[in-house]
Amino acid sequence: MENIELLQLAIKAMESSYSPYSQCKVGAALLCESGKVFTGTNIENAAFSPTVCAERVAFFKAISEGEKSFSKIAVVGGKNGIIKGIFAPCGVCRQVMREFCNDDFQILLGKSVTEFDLITLNELLPFSFSPKDVK
Ligand code: THU
Repeated sequence: MENIELLQLAIKAMESSYSPYSQCKVGAALLCESGKVFTGTNIENAAFSPTVCAERVAFFKAISEGEKSFSKIAVVGGKNGIIKGIFAPCGVCRQVMREFCNDDFQILLGKSVTEFDLITLNELLPFSFSPKDVK
């Protein structure tokens, strides 16, 4: 799967965003090592704290379908669904990535419908706390 295709799937996922409180639409597309892609979008809640981010929706969909290994994720977002630059994963989503991915897991941060930055999990979350710390 080409990076640009993964980015396009993340952009498509934004269409399903339920974000009446922030008006920020976020989309994610997670490529598993099996070759399958799971998308996610942000789902907000009137009580605020039950809100889940697009990245975690994608991960939890994949994990609950039996996926165990992940190659990369594309993330896009913007107010009213307009992508004006990168929409960086929040700290909670970074920690969820850390739970299931290696240092070299790739994160594509969409800057427009055709442009993205590419970084690794180790760059996104340095000096991290991970499953190996509780073994
Ligand atoms: N959001 C995500 O979906 N992913 C992130 O990593 C950052 C934030 C969502 C949550 C909320 O619905 C909206 O963006 C504004 O915080």
